[in-house]
Amino acid sequence: MGKNSFLVHLVVVFCLGMVLPCLCVDDPDNATSDVYVVTLRHAPASQYYGELKTVDNGFKHDASGRTQFHKPRSSNLTKTEKIYGSYIAQAHDSLLKKVLKGEKYMKLYSYHYLINGFAVLVTQQQAEKLSRSSDVSNVVLDFAVRTATTHTPQFLGLPLGAWSQDGGFQTAGEGVVIGFVDTGIDPTHPSFGDTKSDHSYPVPAHFSGVCEVTRDFPSGSCNRKLVGARHFAASAITRGIFNVSQDYASPFDGDGHGTHTASTAAGNHGIPVIVAGHHFGNASGMAPRSHIAVYKALYKRFGGFAADVVAAIDQAAQDGVDIISLSITPNRRPPGVATFFNPIDMALLSAVKAGIFVVQASGNTGPSPMSMSSFSPWIFSVGAASHDRVYSNSIFLGNNVTLPGVILAPGTAENKLYKLIFARHALNNDTTVADDMYVGECQDASKFNKDLIRGNLLMCSYSIRFVLGISNVKLAEQTAKNLSAVGIVFYMDPYVIGFQLNPIPLKMPGILVVSTNDTKILMQYYNSSLEIDPASKKVVKFGAVARICGGLKANYSNNAPKVMYYSSRGPDPEDSLPHEADILKPNLLAPGNFIWSAWSSLGADSAEFQGENFALMSGTSMAAPHVAGLAALIKQKFPNFSPAAIGSALSTTASQYDKSGGPIMAQRSSAFPDENQTPATPFDMGSGFVNATGALNPGLVFDSSYDDYMSFLCGINGSAPVVLNYTGQNCGSYNSTVLGPDLNLPSITLSKLNQSRIVQRTVLNIAGNETYSVGWDAPSGVSVKVTPSHFTIANGERKVLSVLLNATLNSTVASFGRIGLFGNQGHVVNIPVSVTVKISNNITKS
Ligand SMILES: *[C@@H]1O[C@H](CO)[C@@H](O)[C@H](O)[C@H]1NC(C)=O
Ligand SMILES: *[C@@H]1O[C@H](CO)[C@@H](O)[C@H](O)[C@H]1NC(C)=O
Ligand SMILES: *[C@@H]1O[C@H](CO)[C@@H](O)[C@H](O)[C@H]1NC(C)=O
Ligand SMILES: *[C@@H]1O[C@H](CO)[C@@H](O)[C@H](O)[C@H]1NC(C)=O
Ligand SMILES: *[C@@H]1O[C@H](CO)[C@@H](O)[C@H](O)[C@H]1NC(C)=O
Ligand SMILES: *[C@@H]1O[C@H](CO)[C@@H](O)[C@H](O)[C@H]1NC(C)=O
Ligand SMILES: *[C@@H]1O[C@H](CO)[C@@H](O)[C@H](O)[C@H]1NC(C)=O
Ligand SMILES: *[C@@H]1O[C@H](CO)[C@@H](O)[C@H](O)[C@H]1NC(C)=O
Ligand SMILES: *[C@@H]1O[C@H](CO)[C@@H](O)[C@H](O)[C@H]1NC(C)=O
Ligand SMILES: *[C@@H]1O[C@H](CO)[C@@H](O)[C@H](O)[C@H]1NC(C)=O
Ligand SMILES: *[C@@H]1O[C@H](CO)[C@@H](O)[C@H](O)[C@H]1NC(C)=O
Ligand SMILES: *[C@@H]1O[C@H](CO)[C@@H](O)[C@H](O)[C@H]1NC(C)=O
Repeated sequence: MGKNSFLVHLVVVFCLGMVLPCLCVDDPDNATSDVYVVTLRHAPASQYYGELKTVDNGFKHDASGRTQFHKPRSSNLTKTEKIYGSYIAQAHDSLLKKVLKGEKYMKLYSYHYLINGFAVLVTQQQAEKLSRSSDVSNVVLDFAVRTATTHTPQFLGLPLGAWSQDGGFQTAGEGVVIGFVDTGIDPTHPSFGDTKSDHSYPVPAHFSGVCEVTRDFPSGSCNRKLVGARHFAASAITRGIFNVSQDYASPFDGDGHGTHTASTAAGNHGIPVIVAGHHFGNASGMAPRSHIAVYKALYKRFGGFAADVVAAIDQAAQDGVDIISLSITPNRRPPGVATFFNPIDMALLSAVKAGIFVVQASGNTGPSPMSMSSFSPWIFSVGAASHDRVYSNSIFLGNNVTLPGVILAPGTAENKLYKLIFARHALNNDTTVADDMYVGECQDASKFNKDLIRGNLLMCSYSIRFVLGISNVKLAEQTAKNLSAVGIVFYMDPYVIGFQLNPIPLKMPGILVVSTNDTKILMQYYNSSLEIDPASKKVVKFGAVARICGGLKANYSNNAPKVMYYSSRGPDPEDSLPHEADILKPNLLAPGNFIWSAWSSLGADSAEFQGENFALMSGTSMAAPHVAGLAALIKQKFPNFSPAAIGSALSTTASQYDKSGGPIMAQRSSAFPDENQTPATPFDMGSGFVNATGALNPGLVFDSSYDDYMSFLCGINGSAPVVLNYTGQNCGSYNSTVLGPDLNLPSITLSKLNQSRIVQRTVLNIAGNETYSVGWDAPSGVSVKVTPSHFTIANGERKVLSVLLNATLNSTVASFGRIGLFGNQGHVVNIPVSVTVKISNNITKS
């Protein structure tokens, strides 16, 4: 986490370098203790009640093959489940007592809903003892995780598209609860208020979560919008890194990230975005009538730990959320047989079994291939794309040259030019550059000669130190203000090149000239206009003048969407060897760059937006909640859709084109990303860029169930014991010949096509009777044939499609194609095809 608003890529690199703090817990043997997540053999509560709930999350058929929909989840079982939960917690305690007789240990959590297990602080020796117990199936060392809009509703076409279908934003997302596993929430923000008089907005009956009440999060913080809020920090506390005054022992968001993501998905409609005194339009979540449940498990200063995240997920599922949004990813690829088998992904598998749609940020570790860390097919992974809004600022120089720049700031008075004074040339008599080599960054007004600067433009250097948070743009602005400058001009230090800089808001006129070439032009003009006394080497006359044009006005000319350089990429390099996993990731793109959304009043994650009500943030963290909100609209319209069906609706309707009608491009370098881009492949963008209107009317869906995912996991070489350890289920009862390509996903991915292969897909028609014709664009080196190529499908009916892929040309790299199903009622269903041909020697090609 800790993405400050500047430079997602760099900060992520630093996060990777972060060392986990050691545990400072005394033990009689002086052995160090660690947090372990322990899974037991007995089934968790969600399975115990499995038959009673809609846990097979699919569609059932009547005798005629028609689809029958399940009853919605009932909240009646909650009380029984709670009793079962405390029974399980006691069972955990007595197991620990029995196995670690008389020894010291500390249980942090009992998980009972999705996983039957617990998190416990023990020594390695004790962990080994536990793993030898016949009741224990799995013991895993806890690991660290991190946190991976005013205009986006318009960009996604919501007002005339998705929202207009069910009575506009006034009802969009009603009845749906989205759970956020993030840094908490600021409950005082207007994006989360409810109208007390609006009695048509009840808390959904299927939701049973509660709100913690603490000094930071007083009673009354929750309402019918914010329906649940809790925090999970036991693992962090145990490590001695939790600080109550900075991390808040409550659901309150001391970071800003959680407030931002929650409001992107489900913030109220029409909330004015006023930052640094400027009005940037009005904000709305994607599903402004959906309800928000907060499960805080991430913290600004240290990120989070799997033991706390699993507790948060377990609680969210038990409370009855419909959707879980996670803007977090593991710090590194989890070790083990395959990436699927880690406590978080396995808890999310149980959540999907309970009918919950799970959205996760794909991660900010792009742009290199294979940079994603989760490939689980039951998780919907979202990459970040740009959208079309740009705020462009510029500076007009006295030599008639205009240079572009950034910064959300007003301009100086029109038709008036002001002297440019470089900070280093306006030092006090007792300040020297030798004393303060960073004095050019304008962090302290007392270093400068006010008489020189008053009424002029102060010029300051913007270095890597700003990106690292050592220097601060707001402090520089304060300096300029204290010296009575009319504005501030930053030029880019040459060591910060090529990166994307977020527009920073300033109250006073200001600009940051970003490009190194433009900086050169600016400095040349400035230096050539100086008069310097040869004897004292002091500037005796400042000749350069300029006017700041201002960057508060947005224009929508950006060619978008585009895959951002930091968005993590597929394919999956190593899962399920000797077969690669053949699961397409990411699943989808959504807006993630320069996203305006609510900010916590005490949010400390960004110096630029500290104390502001809204912030402009970038990252796949911002993309995931867009999809969580759109999923709520789908869930509202189709309450009985399984998680896979929601994912299918989002995927098959995605667009592969940008605003200009060309292919969506992908940035392939963090330096000069716009000069290093090529058309995006499915490994960059999944199915493409989300189309909200299309996703609410998908025509056909590709469904999968928990059992399908289990079969897939059981098909991985050597996985049977791990599957048993995590799920308590025996692979013997699953069809373990199911491989990645056999899963009924709305994509086809084959990392080793040898000769020929038939892949089957089953579509279910959720719309009226329709006749489809099938078209395809074969990947190079492959011939494709889909049968039937023409079919009529009645409402509720299923159809099996056979896709024959023949290898024609050996290749070391993947090639890409697409299958399209075109209905005569206007539905278009898109399936990306990714194939690497590896023809073995033995058979000669015809
Ligand atoms: C534990 O470590 C402390 C400090 O290193 C030492 O003083 C103490 O004797 C040790 N205790 C045992 C039981 O080894
Ligand atoms: C479910 O709960 C409702 C209201 O709480 C109650 O009227 C109903 O009888 C319950 N149904 C069952 C099957 O317990
Ligand atoms: C499964 O659990 C057993 C018992 O704790 C353990 O011995 C075994 O190593 C685990 N297997 C895997 C693959 O994790
Ligand atoms: C800038 O342009 C104006 C108007 O076109 C012209 O009068 C002026 O001489 C130009 N100044 C320079 C330095 O080129
Ligand atoms: C700085 O020094 C010059 C001459 O040495 C003097 O005239 C001027 O008043 C001094 N300025 C300040 C702010 O002390
Ligand atoms: C910067 O200027 C150099 C030469 O002056 C040119 O070759 C280069 O393409 C320019 N770079 C950019 C990003 O415009
Ligand atoms: C989104 O889907 C709708 C409905 O299928 C379609 O009319 C529209 O052209 C699509 N938009 C884009 C950008 O592909
Ligand atoms: C198991 O799955 C494979 C691949 O999908 C399929 O061909 C086979 O018929 C299935 N076997 C059974 C018994 O369902
Ligand atoms: C749709 O198709 C089914 C099965 O072919 C048929 O019974 C039904 O009448 C059709 N419905 C409409 C509205 O055409
Ligand atoms: C694909 O290969 C199979 C067997 O190698 C062959 O029978 C079939 O005609 C081929 N089909 C196409 C479309 O090339
Ligand atoms: C295809 O490539 C593989 C290795 O990538 C090689 O072993 C094989 O001989 C090649 N086959 C053909 C028919 O070129
Ligand atoms: C190729 O053929 C040889 C002998 O016919 C056999 O031993 C070998 O396993 C085959 N290799 C592959 C990759 O099919």
